[in-house]
Amino acid sequence: MKNTFGNNVTLTLFGESHGQAVGAVLDGMAPGVPVDEEYIAKKLSQRSGLPEVSTARREPDSFRIVSGVFEGKTTGTPMCIIIENKDTKSNDYQRGPARPGHADYTAFVKYHGYEDYRGGGHFSGRLTAPVVAAGAVAMQALNERGILICTHIKSCGGVSDHAFGDIPEDFIRLENSAYPVLDEAVGEQMRELTAAAAADGDSIGGILETAVYGPEAGLGEPFFDSVESLISHALFSIPAVKGIEFGAGFSFGKMHGSEANDPIDYDGSDVITRTNNNGGINGGITNGMPIIFSTAVKPTPSIFKEQETVDFIKKTDEKLSLKGRHDPAIFHRAAPVISAVTALVICDLLSMRYGNDFLQKRQ
Ligand SMILES: Cc1cc2nc3c(=O)[nH]c(=O)nc-3n(C[C@H](O)[C@H](O)[C@H](O)COP(=O)(O)O)c2cc1C
Repeated sequence: MKNTFGNNVTLTLFGESHGQAVGAVLDGMAPGVPVDEEYIAKKLSQRSGLPEVSTARREPDSFRIVSGVFEGKTTGTPMCIIIENKDTKSNDYQRGPARPGHADYTAFVKYHGYEDYRGGGHFSGRLTAPVVAAGAVAMQALNERGILICTHIKSCGGVSDHAFGDIPEDFIRLENSAYPVLDEAVGEQMRELTAAAAADGDSIGGILETAVYGPEAGLGEPFFDSVESLISHALFSIPAVKGIEFGAGFSFGKMHGSEANDPIDYDGSDVITRTNNNGGINGGITNGMPIIFSTAVKPTPSIFKEQETVDFIKKTDEKLSLKGRHDPAIFHRAAPVISAVTALVICDLLSMRYGNDFLQKRQ
């Protein structure tokens, strides 16, 4: 289905950056999930990023839930969330000169010139706001089941954060930090690198790492709806995501089986693995260990340095000097988006195993 993701728990997205509103319809969510609007607002403000390293477009991201919630809990019927667009400056955008790395040309070809190109239209990072709002509801459902999801910046420009340690502790730290790093000193260096790129009219990319803590063993629908497949599908839908690895990922190419295999053990009656190179997934099914994956987010395509491109309306070569408001980096703002889509996928997997009543069927 176009613009709808998920099997049982589905998310439908709509809107354009400079249209009236962006929004989402979350369908198939279990009934009885507490919906804390302050928590949703907190997740949306994490997506807005810190002002020093984010776009000058400041929007309150005030949202309205127009259906599917009654007396503070999900009803189990479709939940529609609307976020109105306010701080738009459409005059900064012209049709014709294609921003290298952005979707101006590809959207023009696909939609035959009928697309709303203002502010990147449907291809703006703004579409991730309703994803985060809906994902916050999924997150609240998972918290009810003891599942925690957190994402931090693993590296940027050669600077690396700590690896995850005690995940519940890391989760609390990340929930309460304005910039998603485990080591605040490293975060400072990353912000300096981002500010330096911005001062140069440029942008910078980064890699994020996500942990899903507490998933039960046995989730996943192989062959094609393996846990990796569904998470990757959701992640690659996020604008600017260009790479993913699960567990040791591409490093497996340098390992022997004896290093790559995770030794299996009993911890009381629980089966655990002593290492987690496989990122908590075997055969496309969760093994009960934390699901760990990394996501590469490219540098913001809209940069202020002069670039070579074409004007696809006039059919001429052009030198492009951009106006408008753009993030010098996207990766820190992508962290809550990555956690949000992951939460939606885990809810979908729970629903495929237990039905939409998955909250009633506790482990
Ligand atoms: C949270 C978020 C904010 C974004 N902000 C911008 C931005 O200010 N300027 C920009 O050019 N791209 C921004 N992007 C990225 C573009 O939307 C994206 O690169 C573009 O649609 C092309 O898609 P692709 O990079 O997946 O190929 C943002 C992405 C996200 C996730």
